[in-house]
Amino acid sequence: MTNPLYWTILVGMAVLMLEQGLPVHSQGDSLADNKVMDNITVRQGETLILRCAQGDIVTHTAWLNRSSILYAGDEKWSVDPRVSLVTLNQEEFTIKIENVEMTDEGQYVCAVQTSSRPTTTVIHVLVQVPPKILDLSRDIVVNEGSNVTLTCQAIGKPEPFISWKRISSSGDLATDDDYLEIPFISRQRAGTYECTAVNDIDTDTQTVDITVNYAPTVSDGRDVGVTPGQRGVLECEADAVPEADFEWYKDDRRISNGLDGIEIVSTGSLSRLTFFNVSDGDYGNYTCVAINKLGSSYTSFLMYVVIEPTSSTLLQGPRAVQDGSGSAMGVHLHTCLFIVAFLPFLMKF
Ligand SMILES: *[C@@H]1O[C@H](CO)[C@@H](O)[C@H](O)[C@H]1NC(C)=O
Ligand SMILES: *[C@@H]1O[C@H](CO)[C@@H](O)[C@H](O)[C@H]1NC(C)=O
Ligand SMILES: *[C@@H]1O[C@H](CO)[C@@H](O)[C@H](O)[C@H]1NC(C)=O
Ligand SMILES: *[C@@H]1O[C@H](CO)[C@@H](O)[C@H](O)[C@H]1NC(C)=O
Ligand SMILES: *[C@@H]1O[C@H](CO)[C@@H](O)[C@H](O)[C@H]1NC(C)=O
Repeated sequence: MTNPLYWTILVGMAVLMLEQGLPVHSQGDSLADNKVMDNITVRQGETLILRCAQGDIVTHTAWLNRSSILYAGDEKWSVDPRVSLVTLNQEEFTIKIENVEMTDEGQYVCAVQTSSRPTTTVIHVLVQVPPKILDLSRDIVVNEGSNVTLTCQAIGKPEPFISWKRISSSGDLATDDDYLEIPFISRQRAGTYECTAVNDIDTDTQTVDITVNYAPTVSDGRDVGVTPGQRGVLECEADAVPEADFEWYKDDRRISNGLDGIEIVSTGSLSRLTFFNVSDGDYGNYTCVAINKLGSSYTSFLMYVVIEPTSSTLLQGPRAVQDGSGSAMGVHLHTCLFIVAFLPFLMKF
């Protein structure tokens, strides 16, 4: 019964069977009862329990990982500290492997020699690994018209499924590939792109920012009418990445901030030229130039004279009338006086 040679043959047979990948039943029928148990699926990092039924009078029993014995009876052969014995009695022989790794995947065999027949139980262990994005493009800055390729590569078991989408603005640009190709990129395609790696177990998501540089475009200037002595403001707006620097010219002369009575304030896409007190010499043709490293753009405005009634002409007539008479009459007279006061200006046009 407890023939050591017979035992060696049994274990040797189990090893041979596994190494050669032979069907479990082909050799064993004459020597042993073999059964393939269901596959065990375990996640990376979890604990794997390997349980095997024992027979009536068990003489020898062992758990093997491929060709190496993990446990022979209650004797630990494996040097791996993650492997330990859970139960060994008449009913069962159970060991566990803690903190399971990818390399633990494969076939495990429980070889049992009983008083009647030797048996082997084969368990196929599958290790699942959550997806993890390992290789991802860095944030990039490109010029408009460049060909852009983003990379997103992930590991995981089962093999993760990769998808891309744009999350800033309406993000329906999607592709299901490790590589996202954007030929001749336009400014509208700038933004944040999200790569998602998914498998049965989990999801990993990472983002990449694409900045698209382009030369400035200034909005058409609108001519501005200003009354002498009033504040005058010229505004210039430029769309550019990176943000444009602004320069202001009157005819061919550069205007700088230090000049008396004016101020240039540029914030982001807008530049504002302010005259605190417009005088005759300020009227004329102004040009705003927006510049970045990719180019420049300009627009011109006219600041022209608008003559408005002074506060004295506006107030003198109506006030005199309203002091004396009823309101309806006052309004009528007001209108008449208003027209009379403006007649010289109206005739000019
Ligand atoms: C176990 O997994 C292997 C490989 O993944 C597969 O070929 C086999 O059919 C599975 N067996 C069972 C019983 O699920
Ligand atoms: C099982 O065998 C493989 C291949 O030799 C090894 O990498 C793995 O660490 C072993 N696992 C255990 C739990 O012994
Ligand atoms: C972008 O790709 C196209 C082909 O898809 C090629 O003709 C073109 O030269 C490329 N442009 C640059 C800047 O590499
Ligand atoms: C604007 O300038 C004129 C002429 O130089 C001056 O008379 C007037 O007081 C100034 N107005 C203001 C608000 O500074
Ligand atoms: C204003 O100046 C710009 C630039 O010098 C010129 O192109 C434009 O024709 C001028 N506009 C007028 C109305 O003189």
